[in-house]
Amino acid sequence: MSKFPEFHFQYSSISACYLHTPGLESSLVTIEDIQKLTREYGQAWGYPHACRVLALVERISEGISYDILAMRYAAYLHDWGAFPKFHTPGSDHAALSAEIARTQILPQTSMPAHTIDIIVEAIARHDYRDPRPPSGPESLLLREADFLDFLGAIGIARELAWGPNDIPRCLERLIARRDALRNRFTLPAAQAIASRRLTEMDHFLNLLSEESFGAV
Ligand SMILES: [Fe+2]
Ligand SMILES: [Fe+2]
Repeated sequence: MSKFPEFHFQYSSISACYLHTPGLESSLVTIEDIQKLTREYGQAWGYPHACRVLALVERISEGISYDILAMRYAAYLHDWGAFPKFHTPGSDHAALSAEIARTQILPQTSMPAHTIDIIVEAIARHDYRDPRPPSGPESLLLREADFLDFLGAIGIARELAWGPNDIPRCLERLIARRDALRNRFTLPAAQAIASRRLTEMDHFLNLLSEESFGAV
């Protein structure tokens, strides 16, 4: 059975101002609240991406001991800095997500200080362009699960959905990201999934070349 039953959570509306509503500051923010807000703020992509990251964490974490609740908070919150509600042009979305989690969200939960530090550091270091090593098991799992979600059929779908309606530009971004991630996996299960997904991407690119007659 999944460690993350919230995958089957049925969304119900929650106020965009929930976290700042006078009178609610004293109420503890739960993981269910964070799920709802991730769905609300994350456009069409943020919540499904976080769910896939958690599903991947389960698949790549064999033999690794980690804090499951901290992992869930980190997965749902890790891209909030890229959501329109918070994003600012030129900002580092991982650093911004970590700052939002540290200052606005996690102090309102029942998490102890050392767990908050684990979550914030995992979020801060999740981006593949960050050269720092992972700060602990939750950080390592978040990074490698997040990397995997850029690969394979889902990785292709994400890049094309991101747009613009300009296939060469999307492919350029897809290939650059694929190449940047190719040798970045350290966990054996993540390496196996990455290898399969990289093969899928190569196959797709070959088909695209064949079927487009050079006119993409
Ligand atoms: Fe991210
Ligand atoms: Fe992400």
